[in-house]
Amino acid sequence: MGWADWMRAGGEVEPSLYAADFGRLGAEIDELLAAGCRIFHFDCGDGHFVPPVTIGPVVLRSIAPAIHEAGGVLDCHLMVADPAHHLEEFAESGADSVTFHVEAAHDPTRVAEAARAHGLAVGLAFNPETSPDEAAAAARASLADLVLCMGIHPGYSGQAFRPETIERVTALARLVDVPIQVDGGVGADNVEALRDAGATLLVAGSAVFGADGPAVAYRRLASA
Ligand code: DX5
Ligand code: ZN
Repeated sequence: MGWADWMRAGGEVEPSLYAADFGRLGAEIDELLAAGCRIFHFDCGDGHFVPPVTIGPVVLRSIAPAIHEAGGVLDCHLMVADPAHHLEEFAESGADSVTFHVEAAHDPTRVAEAARAHGLAVGLAFNPETSPDEAAAAARASLADLVLCMGIHPGYSGQAFRPETIERVTALARLVDVPIQVDGGVGADNVEALRDAGATLLVAGSAVFGADGPAVAYRRLASA
């Protein structure tokens, strides 16, 4: 199955590799693949749009072959000020999709077109201070394949979930007919409410790469 199939399947928990132990990255990915995970979230932060520099194409290139070989996909969250600048390198490094921020793109439609020209699926992300209406309008105009509603201010794993995210997902679900993804603070205590609100792609960093090891935590969350 490819990216579009995974999105259609819905209900997917997506481990955010940003929260992995990078000394054991390959092993943790293998554990997740063995646990049935086929969709991986990859966070690129540029130190401008978000405070930290996170991970980028060099890391992507080294993990993409094993994930693709197993039939998985890499869903890349571009927390960057100039998403258009990075599209080609992400495509060449093994990205299957790029999700960029409506707050960063002056012209989301053009960024989305450029991403598609590189063979990438497209997501449109929006921060807690941006309204679902604005995000939905941009997602419709740019023919986005998914909309990402942040549950935190982007930048770091391990932040507390913002409870108003549930209402924001509910509002968004009335406005778009593409899959809704939620990222930030997702865990056992909100997965059910997010699904009920209409989210079908649930990104989880610290909830997966926590004390119990990724495979156990992933299975638990996916069946929650
Ligand atoms: C941070 C990233 C998230 C992050 C999620 O802004 O976009 O994907 O890794 O981590 P948790 O699930 O711990 O909030
Ligand atoms: Zn993310």
